[in-house]
Amino acid sequence: MQTVTTIAEVRRLTDAARRDGGTVGLVPTMGYLHEGHVSLMEAARRECDLVVMTNFVNPLQFGVGEDFEAYPRDLERDAELSEAAGVDVAFVPAVEEMYPEPIATTVTVGGVTDRFEGASRPTHFAGVATVVAKLFAIAGPSRAYFGEKDWQQVCVVRRMARDLSLPVAVVACPTLREPDGLARSSRNVYLGPAERAAAPVLHRALLAGRDLIDDGERAPAAVEARMAAVVDAEPLADLDYAAAVRADDLTRPDVLAGEVRLLIAARVGPPRLLDNLGVTIATA
Ligand code: PAF
Repeated sequence: MQTVTTIAEVRRLTDAARRDGGTVGLVPTMGYLHEGHVSLMEAARRECDLVVMTNFVNPLQFGVGEDFEAYPRDLERDAELSEAAGVDVAFVPAVEEMYPEPIATTVTVGGVTDRFEGASRPTHFAGVATVVAKLFAIAGPSRAYFGEKDWQQVCVVRRMARDLSLPVAVVACPTLREPDGLARSSRNVYLGPAERAAAPVLHRALLAGRDLIDDGERAPAAVEARMAAVVDAEPLADLDYAAAVRADDLTRPDVLAGEVRLLIAARVGPPRLLDNLGVTIATA
């Protein structure tokens, strides 16, 4: 694995791969890698000739007072994990390399960003879309890999790629979980012991929502109320939202049908945790 810090070096390597007829797979990350990231890198390794992993804590997607400075970092361990997963190129730029001057151009994706994480973090998705657009422009991937754990982010990146005709397939990989159901996330490191024990309540709430749908419930409000009740029963958890929506654009139908996504966010102590689950409702 080669570790590079400049845009020019990434371009040189990806240009060479494409010239030789190879495909480039991109795995954008903010580092502090866990098994979820490893599964993205392994998927890219299976499907692409040159695998580029980017490790950049992107200041643009953090709001004022959020955890940009405190965001966990461990570059040495990240290098070991990405090398073991078969990454060819690790791009680890400094903030000055990505943003040499205050950025005047940003990518804003409407609609799908209006609710949920977009409502709690109003500048977040423009920061994500902008850096992902830049990384696509830098690496020129034909496939880019994202975790389903951040489902709204997947929807935002897909919509951006579609609207801007970007020649890249946005691949979403399944969420990896701890044995008790907690979704793997770099931010789980913020959980104290009692909060860690309470945190699987998000997954339990999603399963309760899915069970209700499996039993025939088709009203989003009823499914949302069931998920909320599970979280409310956990004293350490403070629900932000529980939603049953269309999987692609996150709008709320009158009647659940087809590809549905259950979304949940809650504070468990200071950390705010997210999770989601896909449910397919077969139409008769
Ligand atoms: O999911 C993340 O870690 C980040 O939002 C991403 C996609 C790497 C953009 O900074």
